[in-house]
Amino acid sequence: MRQFRVGVIGYGYWGPNLVRNFNDDPRAEVAYVCDPQVAMLEKHRTRYRTVKFTDNLDELLLDKELDAVAIATPVDTHYPLAKAALLAGKHVFIEKPLCRTSAQCEDLIRIAGENNLTLMVDHTFIYHGPLRLIKKLIEQADLGDILFFNSVRVNLGNFQRDVNVLWDLGAHDLAIMDYLLGQSPLEVFAIGSSHTDSRLADIAYLTMKFEHDLIGHINVSWLSPVKVRQIVIGGTKRMVVFDDNSQVEKVRIYDKGIETMNQPTTAPQIYSSRIQYRHGDMIAPVYDVTEALRTAVRHFIDCALSGDLPLTDGHSGLRVVKMLEQADQSLASGKVLPVGAESGYV
Ligand SMILES: NC(=O)c1ccc[n+]([C@@H]2O[C@H](COP(=O)([O-])OP(=O)(O)OC[C@H]3O[C@@H](n4cnc5c(N)ncnc54)[C@H](O)[C@@H]3O)[C@@H](O)[C@H]2O)c1
Repeated sequence: MRQFRVGVIGYGYWGPNLVRNFNDDPRAEVAYVCDPQVAMLEKHRTRYRTVKFTDNLDELLLDKELDAVAIATPVDTHYPLAKAALLAGKHVFIEKPLCRTSAQCEDLIRIAGENNLTLMVDHTFIYHGPLRLIKKLIEQADLGDILFFNSVRVNLGNFQRDVNVLWDLGAHDLAIMDYLLGQSPLEVFAIGSSHTDSRLADIAYLTMKFEHDLIGHINVSWLSPVKVRQIVIGGTKRMVVFDDNSQVEKVRIYDKGIETMNQPTTAPQIYSSRIQYRHGDMIAPVYDVTEALRTAVRHFIDCALSGDLPLTDGHSGLRVVKMLEQADQSLASGKVLPVGAESGYV
């Protein structure tokens, strides 16, 4: 079988990771790297001798032997680049967030569908071993009913010029939350602030209410002295902490919680024993340590070759963009916003 040929568009911070991972898959080869900053590309020519470095997108789109493109450019360019690639008959692997607006996402989903092409968003964390494990715990009801999802993703920088911190860092947490909970929020409330003349929020807190009083909260910042990557998920049976900064034991499952006594009748019950605390064991299970992007790239190639829908397809990208749009509206208005039933899961 001939190699699956890929062109990587955008070779800034993230693009080289795509080149490395596509080249590492034995079924694929990176045929092109396309970026307008040709001077910057020069120094990489010797590293990847078989890759053609170009600033001309048409070279990729007109190459009939090119199967797919992988797009790692600024968010505002995602839609025009992905649309051009799909219309040229290429499968598309695209960085998060899928597009700048939900209408653009819907258009890409339609074009990919009409042309039987794979459109996959790189919601990288969905392919991360620890989060796959947590998904399994939730599916097997090991945590019980989920009560809350709380994520902190803060560090110093990198200030983006085109999107606020929710679209940059928060997109990861929304994709993770969407994957783990499998439902869309009913209400969204965001506050944030900007400390530069860009007026783009660099600190933001996003709170979401789901069915059955489930609460989601995301704290993202480019203005933190330390890097924190922590998600805490509380269930009625167990609670789990995911610490991505930890070198080992990224997932810890705590047998902790509360038991409430129903219908207390006597005064001592009301005041002393209505809530009982459970302090059980902590376990740190093993998980797949494969690089998440490697798994994502492998999944994309599988789907492009088989025609199967990717786990993070256009609809997954659309749900995240819809939540980001709601968050932006709440940021601007200072209001709690109801989310329409058409926003995603029903
Ligand atoms: N999945 C992840 O974990 C992850 C991590 C970082 C960034 N990203 C995403 O990757 C994308 C790129 O982010 P980055 O940090 O690499 O940005 P970057 O600014 O470092 O690099 C973007 C590159 O795209 C090039 N570019 C701009 N317009 C182009 C065009 N029309 N055609 C070809 N190239 C073009 C720029 O010259 C630059 O080299 C963003 O969507 C970002 O959200 C994802």
